[in-house]
Amino acid sequence: MNIRATTRLCGLIGNPVEHSLSPFIQNELAEAMNIDMAYVTFKVENNLQMAIEGAYQLNILGMNITKPWKEDTKDYLVDIDKIAENVGAVNTLVRCENGFKGYNTDVFGFDRELLEEKIDIKGNNIVIIGAGGAARAIAFLLASKGAKKIYILNRTVEKAKIIANDVREKLDYTQIIPKHIDKYSEIEERDYIAIQTTNVGTYPHIDSVVLKNNNFYKNALCGIDIVYNPSTTKFMKLMNENGKKSYNGLKMLLYQGVAAFELWNKVKVPSEVINKIYDKLITLQKSK
Ligand code: ATR
Repeated sequence: MNIRATTRLCGLIGNPVEHSLSPFIQNELAEAMNIDMAYVTFKVENNLQMAIEGAYQLNILGMNITKPWKEDTKDYLVDIDKIAENVGAVNTLVRCENGFKGYNTDVFGFDRELLEEKIDIKGNNIVIIGAGGAARAIAFLLASKGAKKIYILNRTVEKAKIIANDVREKLDYTQIIPKHIDKYSEIEERDYIAIQTTNVGTYPHIDSVVLKNNNFYKNALCGIDIVYNPSTTKFMKLMNENGKKSYNGLKMLLYQGVAAFELWNKVKVPSEVINKIYDKLITLQKSK
């Protein structure tokens, strides 16, 4: 990478940031697309407002936002995209006049993964495991894409209820049902797309999974885990053992990065470039 006087800077605000794959993804994209941009991490411990305002004053082109700041960022923006506003979380800042506009490219990333894997949401039943930020973004996306029915299973059922109520209210979508995780067997449908949104099963806890009962997997159409390390999680193994296809979260991660890169640089990244970076990401994961 050649850093010059003209190089525009982008970065990731969060805490911790040291394990992020975003610098790899963004700098690979910049190089492949021949764009004079560099991407670094910024560990922000307590003053988010100062960090965002400072970034603007430093002429930074764009930012990604990760934990623990995705929900707080909306207070320091000049504008917010409708999807990010509904979801209540911002993970991308795009420079505009007088400040940054906030987007949620996690939603775009998941949507694109569904498209690339040819997973049809319209008219299908969905079971989401977990009720954190990722579950919330996915519930909003899938309700807006015409899912038939969406179940949200969580060990803290109140959190599932909050998401369900917000989706009902903001999208006028009624077919969303919160449940305690232990009551998963009450789900009558036998053809749902199961989406694992908790961090359970992430390296080094590779044998952990929220639901262990084979019946849950037998009744599914397929399974998507947002965890990508390891590349085949216990949740995915259980899906496969029950004859169902499963997908990890690496593509979603890559596509959310591509969406942010496209917003910052006003370009469209061709599929060949994305596929090459995806292969490099897999090699990188294997070498860890
Ligand atoms: P994110 O923003 O990445 O979705 P999060 O907001 O921390 O992360 O949410 C994590 C989700 O994983 C939550 O739904 C959490 O359940 P609780 O709401 O009950 O805390 C779920 N989770 C984490 N560890 C879990 C475990 N061991 N068993 C079941 N669910 C778990």
